Amino acid sequence: MSTHAPAGRSSLIHYGRAAGTSFVLDTRGSGVPLLVHWGGDLGPLDQPQLHRLANSAVPAIPPSSIDQPLRLSLLPALGEGWTGRPGITGFRSEAKRSGALRFTLGGIEFVESSSQGIISVAFELLDTAAAVVVTTELHLTAEGVLRLRHRVENRGETAFELGALDMIVPVPDRAREILDFTGLWTHERRPQRTTLGHGLWSRECRHGRPGHDDPFLTVAGTPGFGFRTGEVWATHLAWSGDKRVWAESSPLGPVVLGVGELLAPGEVSVPPGDSYTAPWAVFAYSDQGLDGLSHRLHSWIRSWPSRRSAVRPVVLNTWEAVYFDHDLSTLERLVDAAARVGVERFVLDDGWFTGRSDDRRALGDWFVDARAWPSGLHPLIEKVQAAGMDFGLWVEPEMVSPDSELARSHPDWVLGADSLGPPGRLTWRHQLVLDLGNPAAFNWILGRLDALLTEYPINYLKWDHNRDLLAGSAHAQTVALYRLLDALRARHPRVEIESCASGGARIDLGMLERVDRVWTSDTNDPLERQQIQRFTGVLVPPEYLGGHLGAPVAHTTGRTASLGFRLGTALFGSAGIEWDLTQASPAELAAITEWIGQYKALRPLLHAGVVVHADASDPALELHGVVSPDRSVAVFAAVALAAPRSALPAALRFPGLDPARMYRVRPLSVGSAPRTIQDAPPPWLENAETTFSGTVLARVGLPPALLAPEQVALYSVTAVD
Ligand code: GLA
Repeated sequence: MSTHAPAGRSSLIHYGRAAGTSFVLDTRGSGVPLLVHWGGDLGPLDQPQLHRLANSAVPAIPPSSIDQPLRLSLLPALGEGWTGRPGITGFRSEAKRSGALRFTLGGIEFVESSSQGIISVAFELLDTAAAVVVTTELHLTAEGVLRLRHRVENRGETAFELGALDMIVPVPDRAREILDFTGLWTHERRPQRTTLGHGLWSRECRHGRPGHDDPFLTVAGTPGFGFRTGEVWATHLAWSGDKRVWAESSPLGPVVLGVGELLAPGEVSVPPGDSYTAPWAVFAYSDQGLDGLSHRLHSWIRSWPSRRSAVRPVVLNTWEAVYFDHDLSTLERLVDAAARVGVERFVLDDGWFTGRSDDRRALGDWFVDARAWPSGLHPLIEKVQAAGMDFGLWVEPEMVSPDSELARSHPDWVLGADSLGPPGRLTWRHQLVLDLGNPAAFNWILGRLDALLTEYPINYLKWDHNRDLLAGSAHAQTVALYRLLDALRARHPRVEIESCASGGARIDLGMLERVDRVWTSDTNDPLERQQIQRFTGVLVPPEYLGGHLGAPVAHTTGRTASLGFRLGTALFGSAGIEWDLTQASPAELAAITEWIGQYKALRPLLHAGVVVHADASDPALELHGVVSPDRSVAVFAAVALAAPRSALPAALRFPGLDPARMYRVRPLSVGSAPRTIQDAPPPWLENAETTFSGTVLARVGLPPALLAPEQVALYSVTAVD
């Protein structure tokens, strides 16, 4: 169905429903449309009911307020009486006053596309006095994800200096508990909770990348919401540059969630006739806690046309095995060891290009180092291919070392070169940023990557980004980065890309649309990884989340972890190895071989299933799993992060199964049995299996094995009806 209303007025209320969620958009009259409802599905409603609903949403006029009901529009502004953070700010330098934008409705289009199940509304908002037009697009996907973005067009004769163009939606007053994330290098995605009072709670990212402390997914929910319970409204900006995200509440208005690109003063000056398009703001609702959000978001991400193969090969990455020490015969031994345990892709990490003997030099000199590699990468790649694996290569295209031929010959290609002299440029990991907004620099790096991919049969790039920008325009750099990735993908459609940024400092849906894997964190310590994967996985489906089996002593923390804990942790994601396998014992190699075999068998489930978590009563004991979409098979991990609080820990209550079906539960071995502290296991485990309905397994559950700290026990669950 497609409805076009005449410019200037509409009489319709738009109602979109999908997958248990819905929105009601009031586009009547000549004002900016209002989101009357976004949340749970309201069931079938006809236009008369929708009109009554929209009319009854009009609030009282309180004393000491504007003389009409305060309504929150989709582009709230002072001119409407909205004194919270506005949806748009900008000015023309010659105008006397800024911030007085006031829009009326122009044309509106409503399209219900039955082919993809997307319901979309687009409308134009005009401020004729300011000569500014905003076009808003709102989509409800078949999976129930709401996407919103604005575009501002300058119809005036002078530049329009844009301050902000943000996407703001109301949430119910009961959504007062805010969950977002913070973190550090090797400790990404640490959850933090805040209770929203009156005022603005806001996170601002100025890293030029989301950063290790990225708020990531910001969730407002009913107090105490968990993985399985509570109503939650979440937002995320599909953008890899600067951004801000906030929740706001005041004595006068509704609670709102807002998100948008964070623009530096003067960063986006829109010339006459030109426009700026905000990144997509992604909103998701669930009445079943965080797992409900993940299910919606993962299903949607899995439907993207840009997505390539969903079956992630087993990777061996050379970084923690050899670091910068690139010696062909050492690497050949690693290739042999990798092939023997069943690895499918061999990735040569940092250290292969001219002069790159450590992290202090050579970024930008993307030519194979002739000293370490006299015959180029060919002998290694041939060896990798002969062993039945494909080949991946590390690059960090957006960077340049001050000590490099590139920086010496093109000092003007360094980001910020025009505004900061060399002493003012802060290095970070001894490196600077290449200005991708400079067409010469852009073309050069595109040409270099293209040449490498043309010369060598490279199937995979690990694309790194190891510093904050701290100079230049994060907006221009991010736009150019997307252009670079898009151009490379168009030229080499079969080359897969992993996005890395000092581990997980650039994991966002803008990037995810262009890559096949993300490096979740630089830590391979399973204790850290359990938490990092748990929370990164709220937004990102597991098949994208790179997780590697590291050495017994983690390089990043110095902590020693058992093989079983390491294997059981790296299983849930895009699995790989980052350990010098030539140092592993025969017993360890046998366990790894078994683990890889299980991973390959479980991959169709792990990489397409529904991610579930039990809400734990003891924070030391977690249960998570993946259930197939038809709920016929599942795999669960019971994880002991520390010693249990009680000698009789809570039962394993398996979430996400079909309540009516019967399931057989069995312990699953992936190479190394967990260490326990029990004198005898619970009898059901002694029998090695049991059968119950999904209802019993979810409500009563089964007594767990008493795991020693830092162990994981795996269970396979199969429907037997
Ligand atoms: C970053 C990455 C690591 C590794 C190194 C190489 O730190 O996150 O995985 O690739 O760079 O220098």
